[in-house]
Amino acid sequence: MTIPSLSILHHSPRVTIIGAGKVGSTLAQRIAEKNLADVVLLDVMAGLPQGLALDLMEARGIELHDRQITGTTDYADTADSDVVVITAGLPRKPGMSRDDLIKTNAKIVVEAAREAIAHSPDAILIVVTNPLDVMTYLAWQATQLPRDRVMGMAGVLDSARFQAFIAMELGISPSDVHTMVLGSHGDLMVPLPRYSTVSGVPITELMDAATIERLVERTRHGGAEIVELMQTGSAYFAPASSTSLMVEAILLNQSRLLPVAAYLQGEYGLNDVFIGVPCRLGWDGIENVLELRLTEAEMAALHASAEAVRRNIEQATEMLATVADSNN
Ligand code: NAI
Ligand code: 2OP
Repeated sequence: MTIPSLSILHHSPRVTIIGAGKVGSTLAQRIAEKNLADVVLLDVMAGLPQGLALDLMEARGIELHDRQITGTTDYADTADSDVVVITAGLPRKPGMSRDDLIKTNAKIVVEAAREAIAHSPDAILIVVTNPLDVMTYLAWQATQLPRDRVMGMAGVLDSARFQAFIAMELGISPSDVHTMVLGSHGDLMVPLPRYSTVSGVPITELMDAATIERLVERTRHGGAEIVELMQTGSAYFAPASSTSLMVEAILLNQSRLLPVAAYLQGEYGLNDVFIGVPCRLGWDGIENVLELRLTEAEMAALHASAEAVRRNIEQATEMLATVADSNN
């Protein structure tokens, strides 16, 4: 029997994570331990990604996987990645909104997106850095990638929080709860109780309106609730799980229907904005955007959410132009 040389076997999928902080390092662990892909962790802080990668490599024999995890500060080491995830940038402190992060994070995200895509021109780009919808727009603009290959992670997390709160309220397994949260990743997000179910039963049949509204409000402030409790930094376990779910849907070509921040060109009556909508994810990235039938109030809430994102995009674009002018 002839044993084929390893080089003719298909190459291992490769995911680059930019920003080896709380979200980035937890995501690296999730991806490797789910055996999804080799991981390259990149950070500006020399030593941090290398140390984390070594730590994760030392756990492989116990966790029983053979994925390679590499730490680096050099984009050349990220070449030919299938998926690039940007988590680089500052998280919130108590009292800060996600929008307060625009100034610091815009420059970081634009540079990271450009550098990463220069080395992996065929990659699918997932942005996690806040404020999410604005940063995803800037990354798309900076890389000029087709719209189906750029997306932001937020809807999966917000839906997971709504799912968790419904499960806690009803004392039921979260596995049986399916939720849908659209809109921007902020206080104007749009949880959709009408499209949220427990094993197919609409939650509107299981809870009164006041209870649902309380859970919706808790979802809207889910990120802030954790920031207030932790005092240093923001949530990262559920954010990493949510991003890992998107990476998995893409790498395994699962055609999963997930709410992600996508570039809209007329869908839901919105144009030239990234906002959370249900999308089918697979090898090509966003395979299509599903247009749900929304009530007038739901549609108005989605448009208000998009308007807020648009204002922040303008602010971020002006700020980046000022920085560019002062550098010339
Ligand atoms: P963190 O502070 O633990 O990690 C950020 C990392 O980025 C640090 O290690 C830092 O050295 C690195 N970094 C900074 N500038 C960089 C650059 N130019 N190139 C490469 N790396 C750079 O923060 P954490 O908790 O990991 O959060 C990261 C971001 O993700 C924040 O903006 C946070 O608000 C956001 N986030 C978004 C969520 C979402 O649902 N979209 C959920 C959770 C966090
Ligand atoms: C969250 O929702 C901070 O956006 C982050 O936890």
